[in-house]
Amino acid sequence: MSKPLTIADLKTMARRRVPKMFFDYADSGAWTEGTYRANEDDFSKIKLRQRVLVDMTNRSLATTMVGQDVSMPVALAPTGLTGMQHADGEMLAAKAAEEFGVPFTLSTMSICSIEDVKSVTSKPFWFQLYVMKDRGFIERLIGRAKAAGCGALVVTADLQILGQRHKDLRNGLSAPPKWTLNSAFQLATKPFWCLDMLQTKRRGFGNIVGHASNVSDLSSLSAWTAEQFDPRLSWDDIRWIKDLWGGKLIIKGILDEEDARAAADTGADALIVSNHGGRQLDGAPSSISMLPKMVDAVGDRMEVHFDGGIRSGQDVLKAVALGAKGTYIGRPFLYGLGAMGKPGVTTALEIISKEMDITMALCGKRDIKDCGTNIIASSPF
Ligand SMILES: Cc1cc2nc3c(=O)[nH]c(=O)nc-3n(C[C@H](O)[C@H](O)[C@H](O)COP(=O)(O)O)c2cc1C
Repeated sequence: MSKPLTIADLKTMARRRVPKMFFDYADSGAWTEGTYRANEDDFSKIKLRQRVLVDMTNRSLATTMVGQDVSMPVALAPTGLTGMQHADGEMLAAKAAEEFGVPFTLSTMSICSIEDVKSVTSKPFWFQLYVMKDRGFIERLIGRAKAAGCGALVVTADLQILGQRHKDLRNGLSAPPKWTLNSAFQLATKPFWCLDMLQTKRRGFGNIVGHASNVSDLSSLSAWTAEQFDPRLSWDDIRWIKDLWGGKLIIKGILDEEDARAAADTGADALIVSNHGGRQLDGAPSSISMLPKMVDAVGDRMEVHFDGGIRSGQDVLKAVALGAKGTYIGRPFLYGLGAMGKPGVTTALEIISKEMDITMALCGKRDIKDCGTNIIASSPF
């Protein structure tokens, strides 16, 4: 393929390069994948106002997210197993994000560890926390994120129980891949991925192996989640984490007004309107359809961030126009990473930035901070 022009182009390239079990892990939602599809589809229901003959020079996408300067209101979302889309994937993506001036969020379930990412970056990255039953491990994990100088802690609230994704079960997803006929075939057809992977030692869960006790079978994500994640996680635990952490706190996975108000009551700095990219509660509404309600509920008390279904700079602009102070992209950067490694993540960010900039201009605006419902022609949400 010639130079990728869209996130869809990067997805096509990633599908060719990444073994099926890991490509499908990214490109999947829970059960019928209805919410996954709705996240993307609902953006097209929002129409933008076309404006003409206004000054369009000197445009700026720069803003802040939880007080941090960002070159555009887009962060890389936390994604597990990113080092399986490409060898050392988290380190490469973190570097690309740093160079672009946007936050990178490292997942608890990453392949590269907090310390690995710290070793290749010079500015603070963000850390996403999954809360497990072993609170001693959580305290140590938060301590490691502090020691690495992480700029924000993102606590994920919507995955204490894992939603079922059929593709992962059918493909026998595990990290590192287990040797079966099925996985051997998947790997044999992706030689470049294998060559890269042979050159790194990072093929397991870097934040967990050697740090958590009594970990029996970490290669099976679903078994490990069922065993370790704490299904009793409560708002009181969030307050405990907030005190322990002491820095910027973001609560991820809010889709309901009552939960949004509870999140604001904790004193957290931001929440992320998110349904985990359609990977958890299939049948939940799309993220973008719920964004205005969350902004109405708590927008005056905390920053409202957004993720789910962003596939273009236009989508980012629509989320910002509906009140999001910042957004996150998951699959778009994973496809870039799978397609081309670090340059692929940079390409994904460039595509989104360019699309956002041109769209903003054609809506007659020069500064992202001036984009609100004033650039929306119509929206069903
Ligand atoms: C492959 C994959 C792995 C993910 N792993 C995590 C994770 O470890 N922690 C987390 O909070 N969210 C995780 N998410 C959810 C993302 O942070 C984000 O909410 C979602 O990807 C946004 O939707 P989008 O992919 O359409 O941009 C994951 C998403 C994907 C696609």
